[in-house]
Amino acid sequence: MGKIIALANQKGGVGKTTTTINLAASLATLEKRVLVVDADPQANASSGLGVDIKQAECTIYECLIDGADVNRAIHDTEIETLKIISSHINLVGAEIEMLNLKNREKIMKSVLTPLKEQYDYILIDCSPSLGLITVNALTAADTVIIPVQAEYFALEGISKLLNTIKIIKSKLNPQLQIEGFLLTMFDSRLRQANQIYDEVKRHFQELVFKTVIQRNVKLSEAPSYGLPTILYDADSTGARNHLALAREILERENN
Ligand SMILES: Nc1ncnc2c1ncn2[C@@H]1O[C@H](COP(=O)(O)OP(=O)(O)OP(=O)(O)O)[C@@H](O)[C@H]1O
Ligand SMILES: [Mg+2]
Repeated sequence: MGKIIALANQKGGVGKTTTTINLAASLATLEKRVLVVDADPQANASSGLGVDIKQAECTIYECLIDGADVNRAIHDTEIETLKIISSHINLVGAEIEMLNLKNREKIMKSVLTPLKEQYDYILIDCSPSLGLITVNALTAADTVIIPVQAEYFALEGISKLLNTIKIIKSKLNPQLQIEGFLLTMFDSRLRQANQIYDEVKRHFQELVFKTVIQRNVKLSEAPSYGLPTILYDADSTGARNHLALAREILERENN
């Protein structure tokens, strides 16, 4: 049975999409069957994995709102074992359209659960909000990865996210676990970077991944070519950091 991991933080620009794309590509390279679900109307994960979002006819929106067959929404990527369900800007309106639906927090769960048979990992890239789509993602998920940008005030806003997770655990998804806090855009040349790692570690202890994602320009260049960084520049720090993260997650599961 596959595992659904949501990547969430309502703070914008902390590395949710970058982590989703590159962790997914790394897991796929390690011979896992992986599906990315783009749950952000900005559709950055979709374009970053090479989907022509203007051409995509069936997206997560149609699956959530119109009950479209989810298999129609799955696209191939450049990596054979990595697939993606793309997003579309009209997902913005989905929050309101879903308000009147029964079990509106559990729609994504019902769409994705059958896919757990076909994939080892399903990674959901959330938008920078704690709205209904993100609530759906956290309700569908087994675990959540929280990317945290390594800067001062890194933990600002985290308590709000943790509170949301707590409410979802108590009301909608008792199994939900935190997979880990991931330090992103880590700049080891700055002395404060290590202080920030220590601070996050002090708060969340063994929930903090040992792997950190360093700041690396290849990670920001690769999406404009529609490629995960491991295909754009396999030897880059960004590609190697994400491969290390994938290995850390797999090792934890073997223990
Ligand atoms: N480790 C890194 N090194 C260099 N640039 C990075 C790194 N991680 C992310 N970036 C860049 O920072 C920007 C924000 O990253 P990303 O889009 O992954 O964040 P996000 O949390 O998904 O943002 P949003 O909240 O808007 O969805 C992007 O331009 C991305 O290319
Ligand atoms: Mg994003």
